[in-house]
This record gives sequence, structure tokens and C-alpha cells, in this order.
Amino acid sequence: MARYELVKRSVALITLTNPPVNALSSVVRHGITETIERARGDPKVTAVVICGENGKFCGGADIREFAGPMRGPPLVPMLDVIEAVEKPVVAAIEGVALGGGCELALACHYRIAHSKAHVGLPEVTLGLLPAAGGTQRLPRLIGIPAALDLITTGRHVSAQEALKLGIVDQVTEQNACEVAVEFALRAVATALSSRRLSMRTTPSLPNLDALFEAVTMQVQKKARGVMAPLACIQAVRAAATMPYSQGMKRESELMATLFNSGQARALQYCFFAQRTTGKWTLPSGAQWNNSKPRDIRSIAVIGLGTMGRGIAVSLARVGISVIAVETEKKLLETGRQMVVGMLERDAKRRGVTASLNLLKFTLSLQDLKDVDLVIEAVFEDMKLKESIFKELSKVCRPGTLLCTNTSGLDVDALAGVTDRPHLVAGMHFFSPAHVMKLLEVVCGPRSSSETIATVMSLGKRIGKVSVAVGNCPGFVGNRMLKPYLDQASFLLEEGATPEQVDKALEEFGFAMGCFRMSDLAGLDVGWRVRKESGLTGPDVDRNYPPRRRHGHRYCPIPDMICEQGRMGQKTGRGWYMYDKPGSTDAKPDPLIQSLLEVYRSRYGIQPRNISSQEIIERCLFALANEGFRILEDGIAARPEDIDVIYLFGYGFPRHRGGPMFNASMVGLQRVLERLEHYQQTHPDVPHLEPSPLLKKLVACGSPPIQKWGEHIKKMYSHL
Ligand code: NAI
Repeated sequence: MARYELVKRSVALITLTNPPVNALSSVVRHGITETIERARGDPKVTAVVICGENGKFCGGADIREFAGPMRGPPLVPMLDVIEAVEKPVVAAIEGVALGGGCELALACHYRIAHSKAHVGLPEVTLGLLPAAGGTQRLPRLIGIPAALDLITTGRHVSAQEALKLGIVDQVTEQNACEVAVEFALRAVATALSSRRLSMRTTPSLPNLDALFEAVTMQVQKKARGVMAPLACIQAVRAAATMPYSQGMKRESELMATLFNSGQARALQYCFFAQRTTGKWTLPSGAQWNNSKPRDIRSIAVIGLGTMGRGIAVSLARVGISVIAVETEKKLLETGRQMVVGMLERDAKRRGVTASLNLLKFTLSLQDLKDVDLVIEAVFEDMKLKESIFKELSKVCRPGTLLCTNTSGLDVDALAGVTDRPHLVAGMHFFSPAHVMKLLEVVCGPRSSSETIATVMSLGKRIGKVSVAVGNCPGFVGNRMLKPYLDQASFLLEEGATPEQVDKALEEFGFAMGCFRMSDLAGLDVGWRVRKESGLTGPDVDRNYPPRRRHGHRYCPIPDMICEQGRMGQKTGRGWYMYDKPGSTDAKPDPLIQSLLEVYRSRYGIQPRNISSQEIIERCLFALANEGFRILEDGIAARPEDIDVIYLFGYGFPRHRGGPMFNASMVGLQRVLERLEHYQQTHPDVPHLEPSPLLKKLVACGSPPIQKWGEHIKKMYSHL
């Protein structure tokens, strides 16, 4: 809705009223259309101010309306009418002017922003472009390079930057609405024609083609295979080369293509999926939402290795007291220096003072008596972790929460050695812990609702995307990773190269294929896990032919690589070769090529040509298949949770929505058929056997992903 009042006797003040962000729903568009007409027709009115209720100008379109048919007045003609009004129209921007809200402001003749306001055109992040003239008016106002930057990245700019760029005419510390009314009264005497952006041409630039080419290359490099930023560039090019009306036509054509693309659907799905994880339920279906989180002020971090350091930084930078523990003086000092350095760099980047006084370092667990919560991040060794949890039970006060950063060990078994199993949970951070957004919050069967609520809220406080998951080896993310990586190794046996597998995955949209990613993470991590599970070593299992372990197909190539000391980037050799240890520039290594050839001939494998399609299907369908099993087992509550984990923890391309959404877009029937096909060809790979849930969903006519939950509940109500 839009409220109308006459202020200062001659200014029509139009206030958008649609909490929480005054989104441009059909009712609001109706309200604006009516009130603008009224202001135009009222001879008493000499100027118009548009503002938003509750200190927020307008958060943009109502994206829930995207799904259905368009109702109410369309935005574009409405904005054209506003621009054509013969009385000055001033936008009073408080809070946010985003997307359609920013386009509304651009259609006004003047813009006044409060100093704390933000403006931006984030449509590209939802797979779209600003299609209410944003791509045509903004370049005419601030020039092509700046408009390209804002529109192709979707970044929000502060009022101060908006003033510098020329998006707003004035920034004020006072009530923007009142300032805008005064401004409007003064503007009555000024001619409006130059203020109508559609009447302007874009500021001229030499080498226009070179600029567009450079930006296109930049965008393609950053967001491989993503359509929306490229469409944004084309729309801005239209603003630079065509009259406004033709540019608008182009904008609308490009928008139609994007709107109907799977990418926009995937990106909008991601937007909602991320929000859903905040409103969490436990995988078992139990409702935890009503539990109140505890207030956490001080946290102990045990182990200042790769993970502990990043965790300590994540906590201290939001004002939580941290006490960090190591085993030896030297390690403690190295850890201290690293944490302090990271915090100082982080504070410098954010223009704040590093909160070093929040940090304490100790060699004794005895110093942890009074902390509210402990995060253990020592080596991945169950015996060691158990001894620490036993000790913590004795040392910490009875109410202290005990959490572990294990990447896959049994959280409930750890809970079992303590005097407070209900206060134990997993906090699975991802490396580097102060950068990666994902936090898997592992709920053991005995974790209390208050414990999980507290850990989820702590995750939010430190800026993580927290997803509640159940307790099983590898939890959600790492459990699914295994079949994915297994398929990649099997493809090497059958004739592919690491480069070929990575290329297919990168063309699909991953920033890095799985072999380049493994080189980055370090190949020794997985090797250690395999050794501990008794999988490595010669073909010892006499009951089975070679390349089998525990009865199933096993590819020893990753072990052979590690045995040669090739641990990835850090040793300068892995699946690829690097100029020197630590370098990131991966080059194909002829030694790997010959290792594969020798291996294949030893086992009598006739290498075959493997298509990109097969690579994608085998890796990604095996990944999704394990996701279905995770849903059946109640380890993840919803497919959205799995997708969010893969988006934020494993670099799954956002424009594909995540492994489960991707499966739904490919079509569950097709995924099932292809898995059946591959399983027939590789009967010794259990991960390729389609999960019962996938079969059930196909039998029910492949319902949309949002409806899977109903089928899961029916199927496994025992949880
Ligand atoms: P790390 O080897 O870099 O660091 C472990 C640290 O713990 C070492 O500095 C060691 O001195 C210290 N430590 C060992 N025993 C201790 C004790 N009794 N008291 C205090 N400190 C002790 O290991 P990283 O990579 O940091 O891994 C830690 C945990 O985080 C493991 O459980 C691992 O599985 C998990 N994790 C690791 C990820 C990674 O990418 N590195 C990702 C997610 C989880």
C-alpha cells in the first residue's frame, strides 16, 4: 500500500507501507499508481516525495510473486509515469533502495539518502537483471563502467559511495524524508527535463568495445557458465548504443530469457534454501525451534592447528572471549602469533581495532573451568579426543557445552565418555575456518534442544550459515563426498585423466574440479582416513579379485600417489604438478599420465574414451544418490539443507542450486535411469544403486523438491 498526505501545504508525501521492507508487491504498485495520479491532478501539489515506512525506502520486488502470473500494474510503465510527472519527484531513501526499489528511486527526479542507507541492484544474484529500466537508467546517470560494476555484481553501495558515484544528490544525517520535502520545495523552480534519465544519453567513452570485452572476460572467468551477468552486460551495452525505448525492449527480451532459464530458478531456490536452514528442525523431525539459546560469552578452543586458529579468529572478531589451548610452549606461541596476525589483518580490512584483549593462551586444560563452551580441534584421533572430553568433564563447570570440530567421527561416542552427553554437539567448521561460511551442527541422539539451539545461534552470531545435521560417519558433506570422489577415481582407471574429469566438472560450473580441489586440500587427509579404515595396502582380500576392498570396488590410485610423497599443492606435486610447493598453478603431469598407463596395463584395463556427460552423470548422480540416502536416514532434515551444505562448504555452483536441486532439474526419472544404467555396468559399486527414496519419488511422479519432505515422512516414520 501507499499512504498519501499533503505536507508543507504543497508537497505530496507518498509513503510505501508493506512491512518488513516495503517490497513492491502488486498492492504497493497499485498504491503508488493511485497516489501519483492524485498528486499529478491536485493543483495544490507542487512537488512529490516518495519514502518508505519504518526507515526503509524499498527492498525491491516481492520475489514470492515471481512464481505466479503478474497481477496489478506492471512496474515499467508505472516508473515511466513517475518520471514524466511535471512536478519534481524526490526519493527519500532511508535504510535500503534495492532492486526494484533502486529502480523506483532512479525514476524519480532527485534522490536524497540517509547516511546509513544502502542502494544496489542485486537482481543478478537471483539469476535476473534489473528489468524495470535499471540497466537503462543507471548507465545514463553514472556512466557505463560504474553501472557495469554494480549491475553485474549486484553489490550494494553505501550512501557515501552512492553520492560519489552520482546515484544520489545529497546524503543527510537527519530524517531523509524531511530533508527531501525541503529539497522538493526548492526544486520546484528548476526545469526537470535534464533530471529525466530516460531522456539522457550515456556519458561517451572511448574504446567502448574494448571495455565491454574486458568486462565480459572478467565475468566469464569469475562466474563460469552463469548467464545473468552476461545478460546484464548486454543490457548495459544496449543503454550505451541505443535510444532508451529500444534499450528497454532489449532489457525486457534479455529478462525473459533469464526468467525462463533453469539458472534463475536455481538461484532463487538457493536464496530460499539458505533462509530455510535458519528455521531449522532436527533431521529426526523433532522440533527444536522453541528452545532458547544460552548466552555464550567465553569459549575455549583446544588445538591451535589449521582449524583451531581460524575458529579462534571467527569468535574473537565478533567480541567473544577466547582461551586457546596447545600442548607445548612452542606450538602455543606459533598459534598465538598466527591468530593475532590473522585478527589484525582482518581488523585492518574492516577498518576496526583488533580485539586482541579477548584472547588468552594456555597449556593447561585446568584453565577452562569457567568457559561457557569448548570447541575441540585437535588431531582427528578418537582416542585423543576421548581423553580430552573425559578431562573436560572433570575440569569444566557442569553447565559448559562441549563441542568437537571432528570432520566425521562419532559425536555420540564422544558424548558417551562425558558426564553431560546432553551438552555435547559437533561444530564442523570448514577450512579456512575464518573464511568458509558453512558450519555443520552435528546433533547426537543425546544432544539437548538447548545445546543445539545455542550452537545454531552461536553459528549465526559468527556469521556462518549453520545447518543442523545428524550423527553418522562424515555427517552430510563428507559422507556424500566419498561416492563423488570414488567415481572420479574409477573414471581414471577406465581411461580418463585428472584434467579431463576436472574440465567436465568446471564446465558444469564448479570453480575447481575434484582433483584440483583435492590437491588444494591436501591428499594426505583422505589417505590417513583410508589407512585407518584398513582400506589401503595390497590386494589383501583373497575372497575377491584385485581392486576390491571389503567386498567392493576400490581404486588404489589415490594411495599410490600419496605413497610417492605427492600430497598436493603443499608438496608441489599431487594430481598435477606445480612450479614449487604452495604454488596454485596446476599443470598436467606426464608422470601421472604414465602412472595411469602402467596401472591400466597391469590390471588389463583397456582404456576407453569417456565423455564429459558420463563424467558429470557418474560423479553428480552418485553424489545426489547418497544425498537421498542421507534423507532416508534422517541425517539431513530437508534436501535444501544438503544443497546449502554443498553450496557453502564444497563449492557447488550456485546457479545449479545444489546436488539435490540439480537432480530435480535434470529430472528424477532420468537420474534413476542413468544410475540404473551405470549400476548394471559397474555392479560392484554400491553407491550407484539407486536409493529407495529416489525410486519412491519417481514412482510418485517426481514431485517438486519442496514436496519431497512429505514422501520422506511417510516412508520413514520410524525416526
Ligand atoms: P592440525 O594437525 O592442523 O592441528 C591440530 C592441533 O591440535 C595441533 O596444533 C596439535 O598440537 C593440537 N593438539 C593435539 N593434541 C592436543 C591436546 N591434547 N591439547 C591441545 N592441543 C592439542 O589439525 P586440523 O587440520 O586443524 O584438524 C583439527 C580437527 O579439525 C580434526 O578433528 C579435523 O578432522 C578437523 N577438521 C579439519 C579440517 C581441515 O581441512 N583441516 C576441516 C574440518 C575439520
